[in-house]
Amino acid sequence: MVRIGYDIGGTNIAAGVLDAQNNLLFKQSLPFPRGMGVDAVVSVCQDLYGKLLKDANLTEADVSGAGAAVPGSIDLENGVVIDAHNLDFHHTPLCELLRKALNKPVSLINDADAAALAENGVGALKGTQTSILITIGTGIGGGLILNGKLFRGGRGNGTEPGHMVLVNGGRACTCGIHGCAEAYCAATRLAKDGAPFGWHGAKEVIDAAREGNPDARSIFEQFVDDLGSYLASLVNLLDPERIAIGGGVCGAGRFLLDPLRKNVAEKCFFETCPEIVVATSGNDAGIIGACLIAE
Ligand code: BGC
Repeated sequence: MVRIGYDIGGTNIAAGVLDAQNNLLFKQSLPFPRGMGVDAVVSVCQDLYGKLLKDANLTEADVSGAGAAVPGSIDLENGVVIDAHNLDFHHTPLCELLRKALNKPVSLINDADAAALAENGVGALKGTQTSILITIGTGIGGGLILNGKLFRGGRGNGTEPGHMVLVNGGRACTCGIHGCAEAYCAATRLAKDGAPFGWHGAKEVIDAAREGNPDARSIFEQFVDDLGSYLASLVNLLDPERIAIGGGVCGAGRFLLDPLRKNVAEKCFFETCPEIVVATSGNDAGIIGACLIAE
């Protein structure tokens, strides 16, 4: 039997098939139908289902169940997305809608929790008992591995470490609160700060900083300093063995990691700082994690 996993993001919906040995056999993606409502999203998921079965030469009978990863808080028990601001999903009964469309049991998970599960199962957090996965993209996502298992929140809402307040009354966050870590440490922050200088997106700012442009350097250094404060606080809270960082910003490699490790070490309460590494499951982490929670 195989499992299907969806990673539903604000730009694309990616889907994949995982076999019983946890190998990702096939994947496909389609644009997220922005502004068209949840039924359009479910219909894209149905199209992806058909495509995957065709690619993998499978029938519906080969599929045991599906999982869906979403960028927001969830009601685990009822399979409802409570708030995913980037998708404009609020109290959306996604599991039920997908279950009807696919005629399979469907489980729901936060996207960063899915990524943490994948990294703990087959990636950079493999073998750890206490570790943290932080995804740095449009938002900041976080997944916690505690005692060797994904911690999905005390009330089943998932955890939202990206919305811990880093600066009291600070920059506006997409969630409506001011000063969240996400407003300072997401790739979007680099893009926003770089825009007045003519750079488009985080990568252009990082490239310019690497080439020695003083404005880009100062934006990048401030970003590293803020991200360092955030990670040091997470270290102080959980004393993890390892932190893995995912998301496009990691493409900066040692240009980001070297100053970041130094910054976190300076601010961490403990005598030694845990390892900070790059996540290894990349863009597939959400799909793999979503498959792993499927029946
Ligand atoms: C959401 C999280 C999500 C993260 C990454 C945040 O804005 O609140 O649930 O994990 O973005 O997508």
